[in-house]
Amino acid sequence: MARSVLLLCSNNYLGLAGHPALRTAAAEAAQRWGAGTGASPLVSGHMALHRRLEAELAAFKGAETCVLFGSGFLANTGVLAALAGRGEVILSDALNHASIVDGCRLSRAETIVYAHADLDALADGLRQAGNRQAVIVTDAVFSMDGDLAPLQGIVELARSHGARVVVDEAHATGVVGPGGRGLAAELSLERGVDVVIGTLGKALGSYGAFACCNTQTADYLVNRARTLIYSTALPPPRSVLPSQLLSCCSSSRRSWTACKPMRACCARSLHSAASRSKSLGAAAEPDPQHRPLSGLPAAPEHLVFDLSVVALRAQDGVGEDGCCPVTPPDKAQVSCDVHRAFAFGLA
Ligand SMILES: Cc1ncc(COP(=O)(O)O)c(C=O)c1O
Repeated sequence: MARSVLLLCSNNYLGLAGHPALRTAAAEAAQRWGAGTGASPLVSGHMALHRRLEAELAAFKGAETCVLFGSGFLANTGVLAALAGRGEVILSDALNHASIVDGCRLSRAETIVYAHADLDALADGLRQAGNRQAVIVTDAVFSMDGDLAPLQGIVELARSHGARVVVDEAHATGVVGPGGRGLAAELSLERGVDVVIGTLGKALGSYGAFACCNTQTADYLVNRARTLIYSTALPPPRSVLPSQLLSCCSSSRRSWTACKPMRACCARSLHSAASRSKSLGAAAEPDPQHRPLSGLPAAPEHLVFDLSVVALRAQDGVGEDGCCPVTPPDKAQVSCDVHRAFAFGLA
């Protein structure tokens, strides 16, 4: 007989992917505008509905303007390769997402990988960069551990070295900050960050991505970001929903907040299972308060498999094992993403 389990490894944090209003709006968009755009934005793929989506996302993020991309992966690779090049430097947190790593490679800039969330290491890196143009790039919420970047300190260091800051708010958009506007908004740093990247594919329940920035940077990206220039524009069903999506986002956040006990429970389960395993050492108790996901510290892979079984059996849950190459060899992790449907006892 089928057994009910909790899904703890989806990034659909607000449950918006299945929201009835958004399903209807997507279906209507397909009927009215078609299933696809048939061309890249610079050719004929950029429609009025894209302009509206960009304007609404920019307003949501408190930015001057916004540029749409096909996905978060394309946004990170495209933005980094456009903003930095040979003879320049990118400073990248050691735990940044794979798309940032690949963006650094594509840029051909020298990449200095600084120790995770370590401002002293970042300051050393900036000294190493010397007079060269520098871009600092970080996840806002790290995708395996669920911890937050020290964004205030990053922006201060960037200012004193004349470096630009790119923040990937893939796991922050929709769930962190006032009305889900992200970590930069939470810290009132919207104007201190040069480019805020977000995906529509996680809490916003759709697909596609965006880069929020000033108009000068946007013009530059539209003309230089190869993943935008040479890739088909977002299909209408993915692009037509800004108002509905963002208002569903703020109402869904209320019930997401109601999931706090569930997030705390997952965090505790992971923590106690880790503490029972001597080989893992003491695990820092994850703080479920603001974070969409809870991660466990580095461990050998076979222990992570055992641990995820122990920790999640109690919840009847399916969690995410992060193993090589997602994490460095012998630093595997298990993480849980709790989403809003749990507030209603659904899974
Ligand atoms: C931190 C981070 N950035 C970017 C991405 C890529 O976003 P998308 O799924 O829209 O390509 C992900 C998705 O896994 C992510 O976790």
